[in-house]
Amino acid sequence: MKILGIETSCDETAAAVVEDGRKLLSNVVLSSMDLHAAYGGVVPEIAARSHIEAIMPVIEQSLKRANCSWDDIDAIAVTYGAGLGGSLLVGVMTARTLAIIKNKPLYAINHVEGHIYVNFLTDTSLSGYKLPSKQPEFPLLGLIVSGGHSQLVLWRNHFDYTLLGQTHDDAIGEAFDKVAKILGLPYPGGPSVGEAAKKGDPHAFNFPKAKLYSPTRSQFGDAVQGSNEDSKRAVPDSTVSAARSDNAAMRAIIESRKYDFSFSGLKTAVLRAAQAEIEENHTFPSSGLPERLSESQKANIAASFQRIAIETVVDKTIQAYEEFQPKSVVIGGGVAASLELRRQLTTRLASAIGCDPIALETEGILQFQDYKLMTDNGAMIATLGCYKAMCDQTIADPYSLSIEPNLSM
Ligand code: KG4
Ligand code: ZN
Repeated sequence: MKILGIETSCDETAAAVVEDGRKLLSNVVLSSMDLHAAYGGVVPEIAARSHIEAIMPVIEQSLKRANCSWDDIDAIAVTYGAGLGGSLLVGVMTARTLAIIKNKPLYAINHVEGHIYVNFLTDTSLSGYKLPSKQPEFPLLGLIVSGGHSQLVLWRNHFDYTLLGQTHDDAIGEAFDKVAKILGLPYPGGPSVGEAAKKGDPHAFNFPKAKLYSPTRSQFGDAVQGSNEDSKRAVPDSTVSAARSDNAAMRAIIESRKYDFSFSGLKTAVLRAAQAEIEENHTFPSSGLPERLSESQKANIAASFQRIAIETVVDKTIQAYEEFQPKSVVIGGGVAASLELRRQLTTRLASAIGCDPIALETEGILQFQDYKLMTDNGAMIATLGCYKAMCDQTIADPYSLSIEPNLSM
């Protein structure tokens, strides 16, 4: 089974062909990032216009590199959320049109789930890729860390998962991008903060880690009569049925928020530290900071921020590993390209299990996907599309599929 995946949720126009949910046949990504760099973040109108220009050439390239004609393609998978409205529209309308005129089934894909599913790719004859040797196994603990999302999810099987926790405010990637702006480092912030951090002392500043745990709820282990905010966070129906036997306990865990994240306090702490470093108070504008901070001050702030931001998500991942004992842990999203995240997760998980870090990989407990497949791409969408097709999931109506910019898990 060969699936064409189309991804346009943010600033990457991407298409890829994946076979049987494990073999990568092509992966074409065209980013409009350079056009946004001057603004320090993605400008939605510029992104949407770039998608319109790029989408058909990118799709054609992905078929060509996969040595496929339209006859070889079994179905089309497209991101319909979450993401920027204008950007999603271009991908969805293109996929709908192609599904109709080429007479192919269409699968609507949740971008965030795609970030985890890219970890199922283990085979390719494309040069320049280093894929894991084994597919992850269920139960699977997934950590999604991107520019728009920070979530911890437990999958029991394909399409049977529980969202354990998520960010209350900024996503971790967004925090990297904002800190980069404070320090005058280029966009996107993840790689530039990571680079600056190499020359800094990660313990120069003791930035705070957010604590969101409300123990009274989980301790009693029963379903909670929620406030409005709580009911919005209720366990999704699909999850409830899957969890049946331990639903109340699971619900209590989620309501306790012990697996939630927050990054806005950390970002503010960075801003205050930067102002204090140049002996100014909190009214000093952040735009004036980059020229007043020395290279070593920037490096120390970057390294200390990176350590705490990564520790925040690694702490929760290890805690969830100990509670749920999954067979595999996988990470996805742009920040999963961070060397510091890979280093901290490997060390901490090996020590929690009491094994050699090498054994994590050989046993398939923790494997890392190729860096190029961590940021947005069509392969993650095509891979999830394969499993949707193989598991007989619902086919989308090409005449009515709409975008869902705020789609959650
Ligand atoms: O998954 P992604 O490409 O797009 C979204 O779905 O948001 O993630 C983009 C985010 C940006 O915030 C960027 O700063 C971050 O991923 N990022 C990184 C690295 N590469 C990209 N963060 C840390 N280290 C990296 N090497
Ligand atoms: Zn993404």
